[in-house]
Formats: sequence, structure tokens, C-alpha cells
Amino acid sequence: NTVLSWQRTAFHFQPEKNWMNDPNGPVFYKGWYHFFYQYNPNAAVWGDIVWGHAVSRDMIHWLHLPLAMVPDQWYDINGVWTGSATILPDGQLIMLYTGSTNESVQVQNLAYPADPSDPLLINWVKYSGNPVLVPPPGIAAKDFRDPTTAWYTSEGKWRIAIGSKINKTGISLLYDTEDFKTYELIDGILHGVSGTGMWECVDFYPVSTTTKNGLDTSINGPGIKHVMKASRDDDRNDYYALGTYDDKTATWIPDNPTIDVGIGIRYDYGLFYASKTFYDQNKKRRVLWGWVGESDSEYADVKKGWASLQGLPRTVELDQKTGTNLLQWPVEEVESLRLTSTKFDNVELKPGSVVPLDVGPATQLDIVAEFVLDKDALKRIGESNEEFSCSNSGGAAHRGAIGPFGLLVLADKSLTEQTPVYFYVVKGIDGKLKTFFCADQTRSSEASDVNKIIYGNYVPVLEGEKLSLRILVDHSIVESFAQGGRISITSRVYPTKAIYGAARVLLFNNATESSITSSLDIWQMNSAFIRPYSNDQKLF
Ligand code: FRU
Repeated sequence: NTVLSWQRTAFHFQPEKNWMNDPNGPVFYKGWYHFFYQYNPNAAVWGDIVWGHAVSRDMIHWLHLPLAMVPDQWYDINGVWTGSATILPDGQLIMLYTGSTNESVQVQNLAYPADPSDPLLINWVKYSGNPVLVPPPGIAAKDFRDPTTAWYTSEGKWRIAIGSKINKTGISLLYDTEDFKTYELIDGILHGVSGTGMWECVDFYPVSTTTKNGLDTSINGPGIKHVMKASRDDDRNDYYALGTYDDKTATWIPDNPTIDVGIGIRYDYGLFYASKTFYDQNKKRRVLWGWVGESDSEYADVKKGWASLQGLPRTVELDQKTGTNLLQWPVEEVESLRLTSTKFDNVELKPGSVVPLDVGPATQLDIVAEFVLDKDALKRIGESNEEFSCSNSGGAAHRGAIGPFGLLVLADKSLTEQTPVYFYVVKGIDGKLKTFFCADQTRSSEASDVNKIIYGNYVPVLEGEKLSLRILVDHSIVESFAQGGRISITSRVYPTKAIYGAARVLLFNNATESSITSSLDIWQMNSAFIRPYSNDQKLF
């Protein structure tokens, strides 16, 4: 059965078959986490887009529900596209989404639950006055999509952002509304950055500079920064920037214009797109969902009968130690899947060594590891002007004085297939260490029709910090986080030999000068058994 191929994941959200893309309208409602998603019910490629729907108590164990919305009106007949949920103070749930009309014009539509007392929100009503927004003058018909969650203004109105572009400048438009039916376009734009192309799936939310709690989207005031995120249609990556939002002037200014939206920091340096956050009032945290596509061929997707996963939901908060980036971390509920753990204390990795880690089957793992460099070697090692980049410096096979070192996951016995996830440290001419975090797919699969690039970027490491990483392995996805979530890299890999019982995990140190000491905790992960909802399941 190709649909049940070994590449299927065990604890990541995916439909039973066919194509999925963006996360839509994530929300916690009457005790359930709801997840909607862009879905093609007819094929494993994009098209015929409807809203798929699933519910969960913990964002891990999902139950598939009937499709929430399908194209059945002139204003969404070419697709029920991406949208967001807003919960009003009285508990009412509002859904705004983009429809592609009978003439392929992008318009915004309002929908709401047919029965607000149904915790499963099975049936949805499209507002009879749809569309509620059409492209304004100066905006092209196909450059107006993906409304955000609304937030409250000091004037007592609701405000939403919608992504667009003018020439090659990505922009975010703002609208105010009192009833979600009629809207007023705000003069000027919330923000724009030249050369960044169409901004898809804009996200805009506050983060606290003083607490770890997430904030409701409407919170503003002292001790708050605002995150703006855009998905760049031209390079297919999600970029965010931190800045200050002024409610009165309806503008947002980046903290650092050189790392503005679309030209600076990414949520993830692998495959991760069209992401969206929501405020989880149940656990007072902000949660990030991101679409993780395939990096094999379309032909392979059609053959296996499905395409795309959702990344594990992540909490996002400001990194109060650096002040310049977010921290992303898989929601704590992921840990409920941990089964047996194997601990390894102070494993010494000499330069040029590979050490197998005996953990049993290695296709479903949660790996937590720390690395300590050899202090004497660090003193001895000369300063270097090496211009390292993960993508262009030879990957895990390259040998430098201090790295690469890290883990080989989804490796087969002979190591012909392996996905290295690693650090690389350069001692610069100023004597300071600069650390990179990379994932190398060049040897991830014997198959030839899969992406084999090397992902990664620089990661800030503060004085006195150990190098640390966490890797979640789930058959064909590897999600890697370093330094408590300052950086993440999501890889899709398609081993042909390192599957099921044949998959292994190893430590490696390819440095020429420094030994590394590593301590690890590795858990086998249970499956989440994601399945269709059936009426005989008890609700409460
Ligand atoms: C992003 C996106 C959105 C659009 C949806 C259509 O991946 O292109 O801009 O609403 O997907 O499926």
C-alpha cells in the first residue's frame, strides 16, 4: 500500500492521503485545539483547495473531522484559501479567509460556526454578504490574501493585516472593522520591504520582554515587542523581525532595519513555510504552526499518494538573553510521547571519530544533547578568517579545526545513508568563537530525485553557554533546534536503507584539532495514532 509507505510519519500531523499546505485558523475552543489546513481532497498535488479540519486535546493526538469549508460560492469557487481565527471577548469565533473567485480574484470572506455550542465546530456558515473585502485600488487582483487574526485597537475597533505587494515590495495592508462585515482601509501600510516580493501569510503578534508567557494578540503597551512575519513567495521561506508597533499611527518599525522582514532572520533554515501563530489561552502561550512540504519529486508524491506534513507545534517567545531573536521549542505535550530513554554521559569524541549510540530502533526519536569543546585545544587553535556557510562549505564531510561535530540520524549500517545535524565553530581573527548549526542532506538518501542541499545558519552562543541541541526524528522528517530554540532546521529526508529497524543514530566529530565531550538523553517516541473521529469516542 503506497499510502502507508514507510515515509509516513508517526507523530506529525498529516491527512490520511492527498495534498496539504498552509495551517489555517488554529484556535483553542471549548476544550479542543482545532486545526484547519489547506487541503486538496482529490490529489497529492496542489489544487481544488478546501479547508481540512482536525481536533485534539493536546495538539499531538489528532482526530480527523469532515471538511470544514469547500468551494461552493462564486467568491471561493477557485479555492477556499488561507485564513485565521479570532475569538471575541464574548467567546464568539470569527473566521476570515481568502477566496479565489470565479474570475480568480482574491477576496476576503467571513465564516462562523453554525453551532457555537458544538465544541467540535463541525459545521461552518459563510456570511451571506461575502466577500467582505476586495482588492483596493492599486493592488493587483492576485496579490491580496491571507487575513491575520484580528487585534483590538485603542479606538475600540478590530484591526487585521493582509499581505500584498507593489512591484517587488512586499507589504502588509491594514483594515479596521467593528463587525467583521464592513471594513475601513487604513491609509499607508503597516510595513513594507523592497525586493521581498509578495508577502503571503503575514503574521503579527506581541511578545513579552519580561515574562515567558505568550500574549493575546490584542495586548500592547510597555514591556512588549511586536513580531512581524511574512512568507516570501519568491524564495519560499518564512522571515520574521522584532519591532515596535504604534497603534495610533498604525505602523511598525523594526528594531534593526538591516534584519527587517524578509531580509533577516528566518523561523527555520530548512523546509518551513506559510506558518501561523495563535494565542493558546488554555496554557497562556503562543504556538507556531508551519507547513513542511516534501523535498522529493512531484512524481514521487503522486506515487505515494500524499504530500506534506505540519511541523510539530512550537511555543514562541522572545529570547530575553539576546533580545534579538525568538526562541522556538516543540510544545511540552510532545514529551508525553517519550517512551524508554537511554542516557550517555560524557562520551569523548576524538578528532575524526564516529561513535554508534545503541538505542534500539531509531526512526522515532527525541534526542537532547550537549557538547563541550576541549579547552586546551581551543587555546592552541590558531585564529582563522574562514568564511564558513553551512550551504557552501562542504557539509559534514568538510574538516575544520573545531567541527563539524554532532549527530548522524537516519543512518544505515554502512553509513551510505545518513543525515548529519551538527555544529561548526570558527575561531575568528578577533579570537572569538562563531558557531554555526547545519543539517546536511547530501547523503540522506540513495534516491536521486530528492533535495540534497545543506541547510543552516549562524547561531548566537553566549558567554559560558554549552552548545546544546534537540532533534526530533520521525521517519522522513528531522526537526533540529539549537541553543534552546534560537535556531531551527527542518529537513525532509527519504532514506531507502535507513528505515524501520535498520535506522541508526551515531555521534561524530570531524574536527581536526578539538576533542568534544557529549552527554545525551535519547527517547524512543510513541506514535500519535492520528485517525478519523468516530461518534463512539467519548467527548469529555
Ligand atoms: C501559501 C498560499 C497562500 C494561499 C494558499 C493557497 O502557501 O499560497 O498565500 O492563501 O497558499 O493554497
